[in-house]
Amino acid sequence: MILCRTIPELKAAVAKWKRELAEGETIGFVPTMGYLHEGHASLMRRSVADNRFTAVSIFVNPMQFGPNEDFDKYPRNEERDLAIAGEQGVDLVFLPSVEEMYPKRPLTKVLVSGVTERLCGASRPGHFDGVGLVVSKLFHLVQPDRAYFGMKDAQQVAVIKQMTEDLNFPVEIVPCPTVREPDGLALSSRNVYLTPEQRRQAVVLSQALQLAADRMDEGAVTPAELTELVKAKIGEADEAAIDYVELLTYPRLEQPEADVNVHEANAPLLLAVAVKFGSTRLIDNRLLQPS
Ligand code: PAJ
Repeated sequence: MILCRTIPELKAAVAKWKRELAEGETIGFVPTMGYLHEGHASLMRRSVADNRFTAVSIFVNPMQFGPNEDFDKYPRNEERDLAIAGEQGVDLVFLPSVEEMYPKRPLTKVLVSGVTERLCGASRPGHFDGVGLVVSKLFHLVQPDRAYFGMKDAQQVAVIKQMTEDLNFPVEIVPCPTVREPDGLALSSRNVYLTPEQRRQAVVLSQALQLAADRMDEGAVTPAELTELVKAKIGEADEAAIDYVELLTYPRLEQPEADVNVHEANAPLLLAVAVKFGSTRLIDNRLLQPS
């Protein structure tokens, strides 16, 4: 596995790959912020299976963190990350410093409108501008044919898909399923912040989403009834503070009519939650298919 810490090293490695690629062979890319877990590893395995070469980036991107967010204390473990990437058969890891990616303060904004207005776009102002900027830079540098993103961050997938279409990046965006702990908690680098009691209570997120999916299977129900059900279930966990519980069309992320049966919707619906346990903010979601 090649380790590149600088842009010239990365460019040289990618140029060599491009020369070696036979007709029809492809490059896959998995962007991450490191502190890798089985969710990230599943994206890497998918890319390794689908492509001749796979590149992974590990970069905690300061541009996507708000001033009062956890950039400084975001968990990092380079040695372990490299071991995990190697075990999945990744060919190259790009591990730049902040100075390498942003030698000067960037003056360009990559602002995707519409799909960023609600959910994390609303509760983390500027977050998706930072994601759009770094993913654009990484796409230019790695020049992948396919890029793999987890549905754990469903809004991020919608934003990146929109950006890729709007800016004609020659990259296929491949959404991948959320990997969960045996009790249902979605894997996240931020789960390490949870106290044992918070970790025990955090299972309520996936349980609440499951409850809503079951309620939907039973027949007619309105968006408002579903979100109330989820809020009530999450409210059972006394350390949980709800940031949002929303049901939106996917991937446009628009609000369906509040008092209409969800089965009448003509798009899949994303039920998305963000919940704080102390200072740790967890997100989860579930795509619901109207029948
Ligand atoms: P990060 O949170 O490290 O996630 C990297 C990728 O792993 C994302 O596509 C994310 O959706 C996926 N992922 C995280 N947890 C997952 C899980 N439990 N199951 C499946 N996939 C999971 O998302 C980012 O970094 C950044 O915003 C980034 C795109 C790298 C831009 O900085």
